[in-house]
Amino acid sequence: SFNLVIAVDGPAASGKGTIAKAVARHYGLPHMDTGALYRAVGLAVLRRGGQPGDAATAEAAARALDLSLLEDRALRDAATSEAASGVAVHPGVRQALFDLQRAFAAQPGGAVLDGRDIGTIIAPDATAKLFVTASPEVRAARRQAELASRGEVRSFDEVLADVRKRDARDAGRDAAPLVQAGDAALLDTSDLAIDAAVQRAVALVENRI
Ligand code: C5P
Repeated sequence: SFNLVIAVDGPAASGKGTIAKAVARHYGLPHMDTGALYRAVGLAVLRRGGQPGDAATAEAAARALDLSLLEDRALRDAATSEAASGVAVHPGVRQALFDLQRAFAAQPGGAVLDGRDIGTIIAPDATAKLFVTASPEVRAARRQAELASRGEVRSFDEVLADVRKRDARDAGRDAAPLVQAGDAALLDTSDLAIDAAVQRAVALVENRI
């Protein structure tokens, strides 16, 4: 039987999550937001009063991942984003989250996963790979609006600085850095509304089927 595996990677607030969810709905496939796993690990470390940069603490949190944190109200907070990117640099953390993601990608019928290393590490043989991006300014504006909608009011400059810092750390780390896979289709959403971006994403996937 044919397994349709779709890998959606890209930087923070590029629209990859929204696109991955919509593409999954289009094909009737299950969807995994892998960033949420790193966020849960980051949040667990913060709740223990630990430092995301401390490998031992972060690895312990990843190995004993508390899945209830995926439903936590603080999962999307700016502090959690920062902690997620901090724990994600540790190879031991990535290893602890690997099997869960691999198994999700391998389920009968297929799946859609979004993250930073889906097309490169988690599902290198995916049927279709999308690398979703947008300018840092557009991404910061989206992120600022998303935070504001949840009552976290931050200045544009502050959010832009956070986005750039997270980009630099995610792309600059040694373990599974954020990079466009050689066989991934690039989708720049800077000038696209959500509906148009989703249509374009489905068209790109159709090209690969
Ligand atoms: O996608 P999201 O912004 O929620 O991811 C939060 C953080 O988790 C990212 O900044 C990145 O450091 C990390 N991450 C990762 N690999 C993934 C997904 C997320 O390193 N597959």
